[in-house]
Amino acid sequence: KDLIFAVISGSLRKESYSTKVAQSLADLVPEGVAVEHLSIDDIPFYNEDLKSGDTSPDPVRTLAAKIKEADGVVICSPEYNRGTSGVLKNTIDWMSKEPNSPFSGKPTLIITQSPSGTGGLCAQYDLRKMLSVINTEIVPGFEISISSSPDKINDGKLTHDNTKEFIADNLSRLANRIRG
Ligand code: FNR
Repeated sequence: KDLIFAVISGSLRKESYSTKVAQSLADLVPEGVAVEHLSIDDIPFYNEDLKSGDTSPDPVRTLAAKIKEADGVVICSPEYNRGTSGVLKNTIDWMSKEPNSPFSGKPTLIITQSPSGTGGLCAQYDLRKMLSVINTEIVPGFEISISSSPDKINDGKLTHDNTKEFIADNLSRLANRIRG
């Protein structure tokens, strides 16, 4: 494998549809790409007082290092009250203050899902807004927003063919951008 895509789910719950989408990506990436799942479960609430000097808590530093190491990032997010989840926003806030901000210049694909008809489109733009201000290289193009997500996921994986095909195309576009 010549590329690593780090995958982050913005939901902590065990049966999360966002996480199930994330867990479907390994089957959809193009040749030569390995997927690494990064957990945000242990990221504390952002609080500068948790730093000793310039050093952030271990889970924050570990996550930052893994994002930095990855060639690309795929974020799978739910929508909470027309934004992304608090835990994901919190994680992005920590990352933005780490030395050599790991999202800066990082080719990134955003996937949102929701049981509703909108597929978390507001969360999609919420993420585009906050990531663009920290110079993330968001892959341009149509939004990947999966509507009626519970109907498209079975046994923990995406099973809806058109959605799988659309995501696979976008993962290829991410790989092609990185490879240049
Ligand atoms: C939601 N949900 C939701 N859905 C939506 O389409 N637009 C919204 O604004 C909201 N707002 C919202 C707020 C809060 C606090 C919760 C808990 C839920 C529903 C949400 O999309 C649904 O619970 C998803 O299944 C959450 O994603 P995970 O946890 O399955 O990944």
